[in-house]
Amino acid sequence: MKKVLAIIGARPQFIKHFAFESEVKDTFQLITVHTGQHYDENMSKVFFDELGMKKPDYLLQSGGGHHGEQTGKMMIEIEKIVLDEKPDAVLVYGDTNSTLAGALVASKLHIPVIHIEAGLRSFNKEMPEEINRVLTDHVSDMLFVPSEVAVHNLYKEGVRENVRIVGDIMKDLVIKSVKSGWLKPMDDVSEPYYYATLHRPYNTDDKDRLVYVLNTLSDLDKKVVFAIHPRTRNFMKAYRLNEDSYPNIRFIDPQGYFNNLSYLFYADGLITDSGGMQKEAYWLGKKCITIRKETEWTETLEDGDNVLMFYDLSALKDKMSAKAKCSNKNLYGDGTTGTKIVSQIKDYFLTKSK
Ligand code: UD1
Repeated sequence: MKKVLAIIGARPQFIKHFAFESEVKDTFQLITVHTGQHYDENMSKVFFDELGMKKPDYLLQSGGGHHGEQTGKMMIEIEKIVLDEKPDAVLVYGDTNSTLAGALVASKLHIPVIHIEAGLRSFNKEMPEEINRVLTDHVSDMLFVPSEVAVHNLYKEGVRENVRIVGDIMKDLVIKSVKSGWLKPMDDVSEPYYYATLHRPYNTDDKDRLVYVLNTLSDLDKKVVFAIHPRTRNFMKAYRLNEDSYPNIRFIDPQGYFNNLSYLFYADGLITDSGGMQKEAYWLGKKCITIRKETEWTETLEDGDNVLMFYDLSALKDKMSAKAKCSNKNLYGDGTTGTKIVSQIKDYFLTKSK
């Protein structure tokens, strides 16, 4: 049986991996390496517990530290595992340091790299994720992309082989959660509210910027439920920013998958700088304001359902009150991306062994 070794490490990758793992069944052997990039219980363990995911076969401790240090530590350990396991392919998701570490190790050992969520671009090289995605795509052998835009991005960079449009694997789980009635109103909010998540360095690491963003949220016309990422919380602490100074914001811990989606589902809109949540908002029919200069998910901007805002946030209040249409029901696939990916990997192995 063919063996695929998957690398995960950060919160969104656990979700994508769950959607993939559920479809693999006995198509091939799946070995999972968790790099430990995210290590807090509510950033990692909670996803394995509530989604009923298999425990990773390997759990590394490469969280924290600067980018070079973090990625380097991951590479050293992943290489040992890959040499030992001799997989037929290494599979990576998205654009984190864990993605890049896995892709670099595998490609140098001449092991095919499969990249799920390939072809996305922000065209902002100041984002570590942009560097991670470009490099990963250029060493990948199978590139699963969510849309035509991603195909075009890759084409312009000369990456033209084995690029397959399959939609977005995160959509599989969103659709299933809605259909199965898994999303429930959260007990701790009775009044209408906006949901917020922010963790990008350009919003969190500079004190003035962070204060500006928090003040803007605190001035909105509805309560803001803010699920606060460790990175943001660490900077608030370092800058001695007290939660009580923002009376309109209800700060809550990072949430598990279903709670996070439930908060979003019952909110009057989302304010975020996350990549994944821009799409989740769209699929759930929610207005989204993305606190960034650009987005990789450009299709969500059509019809103004998702709005980019960065330097000047004074229009946030007005923009939030506009209704979202989210009329493209097939945006980023039809919710069967996991099945498509597994079947195409199977075919890939078959053609390779001929
Ligand atoms: C990472 C990804 C980003 C993704 C995000 C999802 C990279 C370059 N960035 O950003 O693309 O959107 O995950 O959440 O890979 N920390 C904790 N506990 C944890 C995890 C992190 O305290 O469980 C701390 C780290 O020690 C570090 C900071 O938070 O100081 C940032 O963590 P890191 O994983 O480096 O990057 P993220 O900002 O989470």
